[in-house]
Amino acid sequence: MTAHLKMDKPDHRHRLDHMAQGVIGQPLDRPEGPLKVTGTATYAHEWQVAGMCHGVLARASGIGPVIRSDAEVVLAMPGVLAVITDERLLRNPAQGTADAAPVQGTDIAAYVGQPVALVVAETFEQARHGAQRLGLIIDVDDMAVTDPETAVLETPKGKQHSQGNLAAAMANAAHSVDVTYRTPAHSSAAMEPHAAIAMWDGDMLTLRGSYQMLKYNRNELADSLGVSPENVRILSPYVGGGFGAKLGIAPEAVAAAIAAQKLGRPVAVALTRQQVFETTMRRSETRQRVRLSLDEGGQLTGIGHDAWVSNLPDESFSEPVTQATRFLYAGDNREIGHHIARVHRTCAGSVRAPGEAVGVTVLENAMDELAHVAGIDPVELRKRNIPDRDPETGKPFSSRRFAEALDRGAERFGWSERRAPGTRREGEWLIGIGMASAARVNALMESKARVTLNPDGRAVVETDMTDIGTGTYAILTQIAAEMLGLPVNQVSTSLGDTDFPSAAGSGGSWGAASSGTSVFLACENLRSQLAQRLDCAEADMTLKDGQAVFDNRVQSLSDILDGDSLTAEGHIEPGATSEAVRQATFGAYFAEVAVSAVTGETRVRRMLGVFSAGRILNAKTARSQFLGGMTFGVGMALTEELVHDPRDGHIVNHDLAEYHLAVNADVPQIEVEFLEERDDWASPLQAKGVGELGICGAAAAITNAIFNATNVRVRDYPATLDKIIAHL
Ligand code: MOS
Repeated sequence: MTAHLKMDKPDHRHRLDHMAQGVIGQPLDRPEGPLKVTGTATYAHEWQVAGMCHGVLARASGIGPVIRSDAEVVLAMPGVLAVITDERLLRNPAQGTADAAPVQGTDIAAYVGQPVALVVAETFEQARHGAQRLGLIIDVDDMAVTDPETAVLETPKGKQHSQGNLAAAMANAAHSVDVTYRTPAHSSAAMEPHAAIAMWDGDMLTLRGSYQMLKYNRNELADSLGVSPENVRILSPYVGGGFGAKLGIAPEAVAAAIAAQKLGRPVAVALTRQQVFETTMRRSETRQRVRLSLDEGGQLTGIGHDAWVSNLPDESFSEPVTQATRFLYAGDNREIGHHIARVHRTCAGSVRAPGEAVGVTVLENAMDELAHVAGIDPVELRKRNIPDRDPETGKPFSSRRFAEALDRGAERFGWSERRAPGTRREGEWLIGIGMASAARVNALMESKARVTLNPDGRAVVETDMTDIGTGTYAILTQIAAEMLGLPVNQVSTSLGDTDFPSAAGSGGSWGAASSGTSVFLACENLRSQLAQRLDCAEADMTLKDGQAVFDNRVQSLSDILDGDSLTAEGHIEPGATSEAVRQATFGAYFAEVAVSAVTGETRVRRMLGVFSAGRILNAKTARSQFLGGMTFGVGMALTEELVHDPRDGHIVNHDLAEYHLAVNADVPQIEVEFLEERDDWASPLQAKGVGELGICGAAAAITNAIFNATNVRVRDYPATLDKIIAHL
């Protein structure tokens, strides 16, 4: 039985509010949590496979045509089984959700660190030795462009937008700002390094890997190898973080599959941390010019946001910096620009909230600058400029408690205590508070799941959806338990296997609403099947604690099933509601910082986020997403920066010692509050995405607080101490 829904109409039924079990929204622990904390959840590289050998990628040390040598020498080394230089090897990971096939080839190195060969040996150490020994001669192209500042810019037509006359609005403004900010490249730095184990059985490939979007990954892997997707199975039951870096099939998977086929043995390829930094996706550096014009009444008359980003030649992706600028604030005169510098650096791709993470951040810095020059409170400036409708398209917003988030945050944080910039001091510490808005687009994607009710009354959920630390196991279990009236321990959820119905995958914050809806639809169908057996209308039947109640009858599910199992597949497709309204999530961040007047060092003292993001499916896992997003914000504000050597573009700080993530000591008590919401247009769950909203502007609350503390405006992220102390 298939329950199919195309989301063409808003769903006003709010069915999850009317179920009896009462587990939706509860802070359920992750069902797989005990496996993870006891080290028994098996991650990609941890499978013990009989007869397995190991591959290590050999990578280019320069940019240009590759002239290989030494393969014979390496082949003669102890344990070495093969040196693979197949043209099907990937230049860099696939982008994950685009239709574009990944770029392949090993004869020209497009960036330093590009994989160009795989050395396979009996042990990892032997393979590593071979990969290090493999003399790769590169005819280095001295003219390769590795600095986006000097690169030729592409200005794709479809990515520009103009309405009204911004220049005139700026000229006539009572107050205006015209500021340029820079954000550096970032790394996803997921905890689990990328790894894959490939094995063939005849012409059937099984790949254990660590990926976010299995439906797409299967096609990308098949396409890269030149085989049919039906011949490829991918398993990713546990993923140790992705943040975009595992959206697309990556070089280790294709290399392992080619080697395993050639050798007739299982082959494992795991990336070192340095390789993760150099050969998986980075977030592009950006240069952003923001122009804002304000009238006497504090109303925005114009918004300009011009963004420069970079990527390798032939890549379809470019960081969509201005995505939320297009709808966050009012203003009749609008200019959006988007420019791509083609550079020979590690591929740029999605890193948590591509676009808004850096775009809303800089817009929110510019809004803070405008509030300052206009002498208007920053919270008030934002509230005055919340548009009634999408300012570009005139479409209504689906649901939006943005103004309430600003008010609630201000009240809870003690915003009224804020003083003029540079006027609060405790010993050597300059104290300030700052705020920023949060905004992120919301999407529903096609997704399928199967739910089976077994004769004993237990339910099983199966989908190739992934859980990248987000809480998918928990929320899909909760949705099935709520809809079928089962205690959560009577539901088991299996994920991450392409043999299961194909899901939306974990990306773009759409995973929970999309895959959750497929489970919801399957369960609605099962409810109908149960009602039929009871000879009643589905809506008249109450399911709770494994029992069905109808009229005065109470019957256990196992009695109703009478030895049978019932199964249903749910299938959601996006429809007209994606276009009819502007769907997005909103919020507000508040931060307090202390900046040392002696060293310029910034310590974040406290941070609050208040968010409006549809129905919250699990209060604990959703909160964790926001804690994580805001922690990314601390890193972005203060320390995170991929440094490229200007001579050849290579990443200098390719490890966790030199790429400075925020660690426990850097992160204060973070508080998160949800403004509950039902978004009828987003999905039948009335839920929206929460995975990325917490990073979409968070860094600006911190840098705006630095300005309030010090009177110093850092427009070149991150706000390291040297950039502050110079102006104190
Ligand atoms: Mo996300 S950056 O779409 O994993």
